[in-house]
Amino acid sequence: MSPMRIDRRSALKGLAAGTAALTVPRVFDPAAAAAPAAKGIFGYGVASGDPTGTSVVLWTRATPPNRRGEPVATPGSGLGKPLEVRWEVARDEDFRHVVARGKVRTSATSDHTVKVDVRGLKPYTRYHYRFESRGECSPVGRTRTAPDVPGEVHALRFALVSCSNYTGGYFTAYRAIAQRDDLDLVLHVGDYIYEYGNGADRYGPAALAGVRDGNPDTEVIDLAGYRLRHALHKADPDAQAAHRALPWITIFDDHEVANNSWANGAENHQPGEGVYAERRAQAMQAYLEWMPFRMPDQSVPHQGTRFFKRFTFGALGDLSILETRQNRSQQVAVPGVPFDGFVPIGVNPSIDGAIASPLRHLPEPEQLSWLKDGVAQQGRPWHLLGNQVMIAPVLYPGAALGAPGLTFVNGDQWDGYAADRADLLGHLAAQPDSAGDVVVLTGDIHASFSCEIPLSATPGSAAYDSAAVEFVCPSVTSDGFYEVLGGTPQLAGAPAEVVVNVTRQAIGAAQQLNPWLKYIDGVSHGFVVIDVTPERVQADYHHTPVPTNAAPDPRVDPTVVPTYSRSLQTLAGTHQLTAASGPVGARSDQPASMGRHHS
Ligand SMILES: [Fe+2]
Repeated sequence: MSPMRIDRRSALKGLAAGTAALTVPRVFDPAAAAAPAAKGIFGYGVASGDPTGTSVVLWTRATPPNRRGEPVATPGSGLGKPLEVRWEVARDEDFRHVVARGKVRTSATSDHTVKVDVRGLKPYTRYHYRFESRGECSPVGRTRTAPDVPGEVHALRFALVSCSNYTGGYFTAYRAIAQRDDLDLVLHVGDYIYEYGNGADRYGPAALAGVRDGNPDTEVIDLAGYRLRHALHKADPDAQAAHRALPWITIFDDHEVANNSWANGAENHQPGEGVYAERRAQAMQAYLEWMPFRMPDQSVPHQGTRFFKRFTFGALGDLSILETRQNRSQQVAVPGVPFDGFVPIGVNPSIDGAIASPLRHLPEPEQLSWLKDGVAQQGRPWHLLGNQVMIAPVLYPGAALGAPGLTFVNGDQWDGYAADRADLLGHLAAQPDSAGDVVVLTGDIHASFSCEIPLSATPGSAAYDSAAVEFVCPSVTSDGFYEVLGGTPQLAGAPAEVVVNVTRQAIGAAQQLNPWLKYIDGVSHGFVVIDVTPERVQADYHHTPVPTNAAPDPRVDPTVVPTYSRSLQTLAGTHQLTAASGPVGARSDQPASMGRHHS
């Protein structure tokens, strides 16, 4: 997302990068990240993804062992001989009850990544999996098929995450997720990687320079670079733990290619960085190689390549995964505004007209039609949407952006594509109650939100009809409102407590203007647990501690793990939010499993 860029850079100018690095415990070895071949064939760990009732994608990277004198087949190098890799899936962790096995060949063509779409599995069942090559075994991964038994209702609980900037801090949110045993999956809605380098474009706290650096060193713009950047994330111990523990459903946003991307370019795609379409194709190739992502059926109408897809969960709900970068119209941009990508509204008819134009699209029309069909389907109380940028309107008071008297929207969000949003929301409002409710799950903005989504929004007015609700997760590590405001010249050097208070005041002003934004936290990082029952959908926010002068940036401490903060819920049929009394308890039921001692 865009508003972080200007302040991040100006903030960095005032700081002597690296001076604080020595105080941070070194739990991660950048050299090992560059060449986990030293950790063996399976040094990048294992992962699983896109679980359905009968299938799951297994993933690993098999680095060919190098003979003496040969260069290491590091990611992106194009080096290394082909390798045969065996895989097996078992009901038990000792692999006495193997239900599927096979072998695949991998090579430098796929960067030595391995993906297997295992089919014929039983729904709502725990499995264990591993890979083997040249006598070496991978770590054992755990996965589970989706609670998708036709006509039946089972528990559904998952973690919602986004915006995992490697140079922004430690992935302790992933660690906390890996340590839970009550989740079905992880839903990552975008910005799994960031494209920035370690120089003037470095993104994240200066204290981590030299401690937690991007690899490669510079902005990634080509296949080798994107492969290496993905490999860096797959070498992170917390990312490895979360991938090893649970299947992930992922979709890319902009930073998997470049900041604020649209169909034919991106804010962070400059002359000298090649042809944008070629850059994006290379970024997508690396994404598909390194993520446990199943390509959907391309015969469904779409533009470009189809990435959007839908998961079903018995009689409880479904989850539509949107893809809103590849075909989107260029963002409405106004030069000279204090924050990149923000657009003043109500002052210039041509700006307002562009925002409202039905000729501009966020998803392509074919995808929007597919989505509208999905949310109109009967028989399940919940339609969940995995979405990248916020749908709920967010009007930013100009005072907080250094332009008092004006009101801004973030042109990169659905706010910048008002015709598409009105089309979708009007369709939702026209559905009978029997079509169920929509809950949108979003990331991107690096802050926690719980929103009702007004059919039409009048600034400051609480008199609106709500079409759906939206839960927005905080970033895993990327700069949020607290870091952005702390980087402004007015607050440079201010105590953390002061910056926290200013952030909360700005949020309070925003809530006055946007009464449908029922909850906002712009200070902490972490993740959200989403729990779905026929009666309600609850969101438990898990947050890093509120910064203090003694610990102004929890992201730089590898021992600080997000903990439970608060909960909101929406009751079926209401399209509204209420407080929930506390975090979710035990699941109503468990997937089938076979323990070590039950053979
Ligand atoms: Fe982000």
